Amino acid sequence: MDEGRTRDWYPVARAAEVGTTPVPVGAGGSAYVVVRLRPHGEVVAFPARCPHRLVPLAAGHVEDGRLVCPAHGWRFDGDGRCTQVPSLGPDGCPPPRADPRGPWGVEERHGWVWLAPEPTPTGPPRPGAEPAVAPAPPLPAPDGPVFDNLAPALAHAWHPVALSRELRPGGWSQVRLLGCTCNLARDHDGTVTVEPAAAGVRERLGLIWLAPAEPVDVPFEVPEAADRRYVAGWLPPVRSPGPAGPLADTFLDATHGPFVHAATIGTPDRTEMTPPRVIAEPGGFSSVQEQWVDNPLDPEVATGARPLRQRRRTTYTFRAPFRLRLRQEFLDTGAATTLLYLLQPEDLDSTRVYTCLLVSAGPGQPLPTPAWMAEQVALQRRLLAEDVRSQETLAISGLPLDPRDEVHVPADRSGVALRQALCEFMAAGRRQHAAA
Ligand code: FES
Ligand SMILES: [Fe+2]
Repeated sequence: MDEGRTRDWYPVARAAEVGTTPVPVGAGGSAYVVVRLRPHGEVVAFPARCPHRLVPLAAGHVEDGRLVCPAHGWRFDGDGRCTQVPSLGPDGCPPPRADPRGPWGVEERHGWVWLAPEPTPTGPPRPGAEPAVAPAPPLPAPDGPVFDNLAPALAHAWHPVALSRELRPGGWSQVRLLGCTCNLARDHDGTVTVEPAAAGVRERLGLIWLAPAEPVDVPFEVPEAADRRYVAGWLPPVRSPGPAGPLADTFLDATHGPFVHAATIGTPDRTEMTPPRVIAEPGGFSSVQEQWVDNPLDPEVATGARPLRQRRRTTYTFRAPFRLRLRQEFLDTGAATTLLYLLQPEDLDSTRVYTCLLVSAGPGQPLPTPAWMAEQVALQRRLLAEDVRSQETLAISGLPLDPRDEVHVPADRSGVALRQALCEFMAAGRRQHAAA
């Protein structure tokens, strides 16, 4: 830190231009947001990123005199305290590290908002002329290591690179993987080849997979894919403008729904979350949660044979580096929906997402109709678009691996397990590399 520069006051915005919408600013090379928590109230300042998952607070909004983070709804007051973590429930107490660390001083003087990043003995100077305001600096990177899309260990893994149906017999396709271009070709007998040569090419689950170097092979089981009681629907692949790690974190995160998906399925009154049970497994983990929810789609509810409120189990299965299976089953009816999220780390700032929906109405029930499947696929496309938009605003180079760079609460157990699994994956990749 440049002590000489930060122990000073910096003009950051015209006071008249700061209202109840957060404004990103810079002072002494550090990024902050300034905002009024009440119309015409005093200006307060926050760090540029939320302490929880580092989402930029410039994307937040003001509600009831608090700044609300858009990702999981954590609330911050003007004294630099986190006053609410919705997943902890109304009586939950935010951990002390959840308090955001803003600048030392904020003053509104001479028509300008001034920030002092560090303790400063005097007040803001009276400017002789219009003071020069520095543009807001880039959002800060985490202090510790991040898992990005070019992590060397990723060479020692299987990655999806195309839907099988995207490569016809006699056809070819160029794909990006780990910052490199690969040329795929399919012979007329159906065999897939790749240039430059890779350690492995195979087709599974309707996808073509590549392993650039000898892979650490961890099976990824999807029993539903071969079960005739399930109907499958693929979403068109989409591209996320960011690394795969934070996107996988979002897919595993049960607490962003009420906020990131507020326009689709989010229920603002259902934010409290029972922490999941995490079970370590080779190459990853599963996490399990059970909840009581309404199941209006059960035909037995209409006849009165079963109650509307039923037990639903959600199981997340993660296999490194970026294979996820999310299964929701109604335990009383056997109806189940599985979502597969399979991620292709293309470049530092690009990830291709393959999503498959597998639906069963339960034993003894007819298969889901094409119209029903089309509706469900359309809904999943909207949800995926909301998740991808959240990645656009995150603006981070990878998933932070040092627990001190973020704040974890009990509902984040799956996210903590993801970070640990990726650390172990990196270590296994190093061993594989050394043995090669
Ligand atoms: S509440 Fe801000 S990132 Fe989760
Ligand atoms: Fe989501």
